[in-house]
Amino acid sequence: MADVEQLKRKAGIEACKFVKSGMKVGLGTGSTVKHTVVELGRRMAEEGLEIVGVPTSLATEKLALEVGIPLVELSEIDGLDIVIDGADEYDPQFQLIKGGGAALLREKIVAQESSGMVVVADDRKRVATLGAFPLPIEVTPFSHEATVRALSRLLDCRVNIRMAGDGPVFTDNGNMIADAHTGPNIMDPISTEANILLIAGVVQVGLFNNMCDAVVLAGTNGVETVINPNGRLQ
Ligand code: A5P
Repeated sequence: MADVEQLKRKAGIEACKFVKSGMKVGLGTGSTVKHTVVELGRRMAEEGLEIVGVPTSLATEKLALEVGIPLVELSEIDGLDIVIDGADEYDPQFQLIKGGGAALLREKIVAQESSGMVVVADDRKRVATLGAFPLPIEVTPFSHEATVRALSRLLDCRVNIRMAGDGPVFTDNGNMIADAHTGPNIMDPISTEANILLIAGVVQVGLFNNMCDAVVLAGTNGVETVINPNGRLQ
C-alpha cells in the first residue's frame, strides 16, 4: 500500500513540469492528483510560481485553498491552459475512464475548457481495453431506477447505484452515480459514450474520449511521461 502511495506521489509531482508561471490550471480530483495540488502550492510559496486554479470538486477546492492556490470560476476566464487529473483506466488510444471519485461531471467540464490534459496515474491504470473498472455514470435522482434499467439494457450488464453505507452517494452537483459493470470490453468508447448520453436521466458519463494529451505514469521502474502522438502537447 505504501508503495502505491509512493508511486502516486511521484506521478503527481512529476506532472507539475507541465505548469509554468502565468498559467490557468484545472485541478483534478483524486488520491494521485492531490500530490500535484500540494506540489503546486509548495512551488507558489517557495519558488515564485504564479498560477490560478479551477478545481474539479469541492474536495479539491478545499485542498487548493489550504495550500494557497488562488481559485477562479470558469465564467471569469477564457479557457484554461492545462488540466492535470487522475484516471481510473486509460487505454492505448489515451481514452479514459474517470469518475471513481464521483467528480466526473466537473472534471469533464474543466477538461473541455482546457487546451491540454495531463493524466497522472500509477501503472495499474493502464489497460488494453476499457471496462474492468465499473464505468461511472452521473444520473439525476429523479426516476434513477428507470435510468439504471435503460443503462442496463443498453450496455447489457449489471448497473447499480453507488452507495455509501445505507444511502446513495450524491455528487457535488446533487446527482447520483450509476456504476456499469461492463467488463473489459468497451471496444468502441466513442460510440459507447454517445449512446449513453442519449438516455434521458443521464447527466454525464465517465468516458473521456480524445481529451488526454499525456499520461505521467509511475511504475516500479520510475516515472514515465507518455505523450499522445495525436494530442495537443507534442
Ligand atoms: C474522480 O472522480 C476520478 O475521476 C479520479 O480522478 C480518478 O478516480 C482517479 O483517482 P485516484 O487517483 O484516486 O485513483
